[in-house]
Amino acid sequence: MQQLGIGIAFTGSGSCTPSFSLSNQMLSQVVETSDEWISSRTGIRERRLADADTSLCAIATEASKQAIAMAQIAPTDIDLIILATSSADDLFGTASQIQTQLGATKAVAFDLTAACSGFVFGLVTAAQFIRTGVYQNVLLIGADILSRWVNWSDRGTCVLFGDGAGAVIMQANPCDRFLGFEIRSDGTQNACLNLAYRPQPKELITGVTISQGAYQTITMNGQEVYRFAVKKVPEVIEKALYRSNMTPAEIDWLLLHQANQRILNAVAQRLNIPDEKVISNLANYGNTSAASIPLALDEAVRQNQIKIGDKIAVAGFGAGLTWGAAIFQWGR
Ligand code: UT7
Repeated sequence: MQQLGIGIAFTGSGSCTPSFSLSNQMLSQVVETSDEWISSRTGIRERRLADADTSLCAIATEASKQAIAMAQIAPTDIDLIILATSSADDLFGTASQIQTQLGATKAVAFDLTAACSGFVFGLVTAAQFIRTGVYQNVLLIGADILSRWVNWSDRGTCVLFGDGAGAVIMQANPCDRFLGFEIRSDGTQNACLNLAYRPQPKELITGVTISQGAYQTITMNGQEVYRFAVKKVPEVIEKALYRSNMTPAEIDWLLLHQANQRILNAVAQRLNIPDEKVISNLANYGNTSAASIPLALDEAVRQNQIKIGDKIAVAGFGAGLTWGAAIFQWGR
């Protein structure tokens, strides 16, 4: 699906997680749960949590520096920075703070919010700018600190999430490595997973009422989201594969949003993809939302599991509801 003769390459990755790790055992001091329940229902064993002094900007910047170094470019070469996040330090956007930290003086920077699908939506957004010849070097970051927004007395959600950041560099390239994608939304199921604003009416002057509320904590209907993911994710991967002129058997790696090992297994099974091609690191990090795909990607690249030319199917899914898949080859 190459257009205008401009291909896209994936030339660098990086990641950063806070150092503190909260085990399932430790979580049982917070809510009534057990290591047995969490590991058997989700596959998660521990998750990293940011302390009060750790900003989203800091972990996203560190992940970005690693990606920039691997791509062997300078921060000043970057044309565009996209930060996929739902937990920005600043509701007005955090991407430009990262731009400043990196010294990426030429880049335009903005946030993109699509919850756990954010990284895949970001890949597709970045690809449009490169394909059309507008930008050559893009830094795409997926980062979230959902521990800020979790209800720590709701055992159905607080055991799932962790904090982290991952980044990739995408560059204009003679050879096209971005093979196909499909992204979707369904607002009718929005209530399944929310981090909503709770309005609090305030009378500004007589007869004029505005709202000065605050954000609530994450609410989720786990079973609905589970059913949605297992049904919709294989469909969207098949669509992206079709657009890439590929079959599931041609994929080297299946890299799904790291929400639940049972979801990973069910999707792989439906696509007939063997376990050894499924990348999973959720045991160590839990669900890190927009960060989960680039975090697992970076680990697999640095462990020499993913090699130059490997074909990777990534898929994200989550709040919105949103979901999407992209197929690409690692490297230039
Ligand atoms: O990024 C996308 C975000 N979300 C997801 O991907 C979530 C998708 N959903 C899931 O992963 C699963 O639905 C969960 C892991 C959230 C829950 O697993 P489940 O097998 O659907 O469990 P359930 O909600 O049906 O709960 C089963 C039981 C309930 O007890 P009763 O009513 O059967 O007595 C829950 O109260 O497990 C109980 N339970 C827990 N017990 C111990 C729920 N959470 C916990 C817990 N520890 N942490």
